[in-house]
Amino acid sequence: MATAMAEAWMKTFPMEAKNKRSTGKSSRILDVPAFNNAWNIYRDTSMDIMKRFEYMSKCLDFNDKDTAAIKQSVEEFVAPNLEKILDHIYWEKLVNDPWLSRWFMDETGNISDEYVKVRRARQKIFILKIVECKWDEEFWNYVRWVGAVHVPIFGNEDLYIPMRLNLALWGYIHQYLFNLLAEAYKSEPEKLQKFTTAWTKLFWLIIDVYHIDYFAPWM
Ligand code: HEM
Repeated sequence: MATAMAEAWMKTFPMEAKNKRSTGKSSRILDVPAFNNAWNIYRDTSMDIMKRFEYMSKCLDFNDKDTAAIKQSVEEFVAPNLEKILDHIYWEKLVNDPWLSRWFMDETGNISDEYVKVRRARQKIFILKIVECKWDEEFWNYVRWVGAVHVPIFGNEDLYIPMRLNLALWGYIHQYLFNLLAEAYKSEPEKLQKFTTAWTKLFWLIIDVYHIDYFAPWM
């Protein structure tokens, strides 16, 4: 069944919704069972976001225990430290990063505090959505949509945020959160491992879904 996102895609690119007529010649690569299988997985997990989540969860073994660990870490640690994490990322890390800082400069080359606040607020909305810990279709469509607004698919026509910048920003968040967790739970190594394992898997899932629309026809 096509998801709301797949239907929207087919409306945006009507050609995608048309039945393709075969030339009668098959693509030889698809005669190789392993490639055929990979292609079917790729197609199905691009059209159906919940299939993507299920498939990726299986690959990573993201399970109920991980969700429980994330919930516990949110209650104990992430929620009470959210403002600190955002302040560090935006006011210490990004404004000093040689590359990402350029994004926050005004015409005179100075950091625009006002704009940093805007970006920080956007990021906060995203993280608040994550810490609800509801991995349903609405959540994954939201993650996919946020990724898609960073490229011309749903963003402005002239907006294109290179993937490496997303990875850099997400990497900073990952690194800082893990350093804080390591400090907070240094006397509870098992708990620390449980939390960091679960968050690593979740970040991987999020980064995957976030970038689905980066592999669009204009590439
Ligand atoms: C994985 C990392 C990122 C996340 C989670 C994220 C999150 C968001 C969110 C939630 C929105 C708002 C969507 C809306 O409600 O309209 C947004 C929009 C935007 N983001 Fe990001 N973002 C990321 C990376 C980046 C990077 C690296 C840049 C630039 C260097 C950037 C620049 C923008 C711009 C220009 C917009 C659209 C206009 C706006 O809302 O101000 N984002 N982002």
